[in-house]
Formats: sequence, C-alpha cells, structure tokens
Amino acid sequence: MDINKVGVVGCGLMGSGIAQIAAQAGCDVVVREVDQAQCDKGQGKIDKFLGKAVEKGKLSQEDKDAVMGRISFTTELSGFAACDLVVEAIIENLEIKRELFAALDTICPAHTIFATNTSSLAVGDMASATNRGQNFVGLHFFNPVPLMKLVEVVRTLETSADVFDAACAFGEKVGKVVVRAKDSPGFVVNLLLVPYLLDSIRALEAGVATAEDIDAGMKLGCGHPMGPLQLLDFVGLDTTLYIADIMFHEFKEFRYSAPPMLRRLVASGRNGMKSGRGFYDYARK
Ligand code: 3HC
Repeated sequence: MDINKVGVVGCGLMGSGIAQIAAQAGCDVVVREVDQAQCDKGQGKIDKFLGKAVEKGKLSQEDKDAVMGRISFTTELSGFAACDLVVEAIIENLEIKRELFAALDTICPAHTIFATNTSSLAVGDMASATNRGQNFVGLHFFNPVPLMKLVEVVRTLETSADVFDAACAFGEKVGKVVVRAKDSPGFVVNLLLVPYLLDSIRALEAGVATAEDIDAGMKLGCGHPMGPLQLLDFVGLDTTLYIADIMFHEFKEFRYSAPPMLRRLVASGRNGMKSGRGFYDYARK
C-alpha cells in the first residue's frame, strides 16, 4: 500500500502543514477548503513557510517551486477521488467530521485510507460514519507540523494491520518519528501533556509563582523549548479547554478538569497568541 496521492481536508494551521510535508516528501497533494478565499489563504501559509526556509538556506528556490507545484487546491470533495490517503484537519466537531467522512466514503475508491488529525475525539467515532472501518486511522501531527518531529499513528478496534502499517510508513515518509497508539483519549502525548498544562494554570491560580517564573522554571529546569503557559498561548486556550473538557468527560478525573482561570480567560476572548492575548500580551510585543 504505497501512498503517493494525498488529500488534505482543511488548510488551517494543521492542514497547511500536513499538505506541505506530504508534498515535500514527493506526494501529489490535493487540498480542499470551503471557498476560494480559504484556498488562497492556505496556499499563502505554505508559500510563506517555504519562503522562510529558502531565506534560511534550508531549501532552494527550485525545490520550493517543485513542492508548491505538487499541491493543488479545490473547493470540491470530488477532488479526492484518486487519493490513496485522505487526511482530515477541520474543526474539532464530531458531527461535522462524521458528515465529512460519510460524504468522502461515497466518493473515494475502496482502497483509500481515511485519517483524522483529531487531538481529542475518538477516531472510532468517525470511522463508524463510513463503511471502511478497517481503512481508518488517526494521524495526529503537532504544531508547527513542519518543525515538530512526531506523529502519533492511532489504530481503532477495526483498523487492519496492513492499513496501520501503511499509515506508519506514510508518517516515516513525511519525515516524522512514529509513535503507535490505540484509540484512547489523548493518545500518548495529550494524555500526559494536558494535565501538565492544566497544573501550570493551577499553580498560577494558587499564586505559587508568576507566569514568567513558572515558564522559566520549566524551560530552564527541564529543558523544555517553551514553558507551559507560553505553550498554552501557542496551542490556544480555547483549544486546550476543548480538549480538557473531552478528556474530563471520558475519565472523570480531577487532573483533566479545566481550572476556573482557563474558563474565564476563554470566556473573555483571551485565547492566546492568535487572539493577541492569553497569559501574555502579544499586542505589546
Ligand atoms: N523552514 C525551515 N526551517 C525552519 C523554518 C522554516 N520556515 N522556521 C524555523 N525553522 C527551523 C529553524 O531554522 C530552527 O532550526 P535549527 O534548530 O536547525 O536552527 C528550528 O526550525 C527552530 O526554529 P526557530 O529558531 O525559528 O524557533 P524556536 O527555536 O523558537 O522554535 C518551536 C520554535 C519549534 C515552535 C519551539 O519553540 C518548540 O518546539 N515549541 C514547542 C512546540 C510544541 O510543544 N508543540 C506541540 C504543541 S501540542 C500539539 O500540537 C498537540 C495538540 O493536539 C494540542
């Protein structure tokens, strides 16, 4: 099961990165967005990232052009009819994802593998909207996708061994280290990362230290590239709250419960870097 033609649904933060690394690995990539304006925006993100790589001397202009040339954009799902793999990277909403996969199931040939980049929903809950449970996996990439070296490949109870192996081989083909996980809330990384991030907010709420000192503690004391509050701003406070609520619902354990401060910040629109303000103020920087 060689994967050469890849479809990506959604060209936001994650989708644009997935499309880019697949094209950099030599795959032909078709990206679907809801309208032309979103297609143009997504293309702009990839172009900008690769442009920076050229500036940094990590990529030649010729290679950049070749990568861009391997990516096409469409607003129609029918564009996925010839894909070996379709990766979904749309909004974290189960019903919307199920509708998408049910529609793709009628368009794509039987051999096409479906993958979701979900960080928190059950992969099996999406697979059950299709008639190809054996051809369904999770491919959980990390932000920023082109720079982070990991992908979690997730198998459901129904995923076939061949499809799982093909998905792992694809992860390696796009230059990632593969971690294999079963379809369990948070897989490996978020299972451990989310309680840690929530605990850093509890430490701030309890007045243990300032945000700057909590972040400096973990950066310099543990060698993390970002402190937890900085990472929360980077991932998005709304995104983290959403994931925490799903995990709390699944496990009913305190360590997944969102601290009141997180809810208050999200309610007031302080969602982190993308909104200009989270634990830190980005407008002033
Ligand atoms: N093209 C090619 N290379 C690039 C590049 C580009 N456009 N932009 C940056 N790079 C390279 C740099 O040259 C540098 O390479 P070097 O180490 O060989 O010099 C490297 O990437 C790092 O780039 P920068 O120096 O510009 O930036 P930083 O050193 O500040 O690193 C970061 C940025 C990679 C985001 C780092 O801060 C980091 O790793 N942060 C943690 C991110 C993280 O934890 N992400 C996971 C979030 S959780 C998640 O996604 C799961 C979800 O479910 C919640």
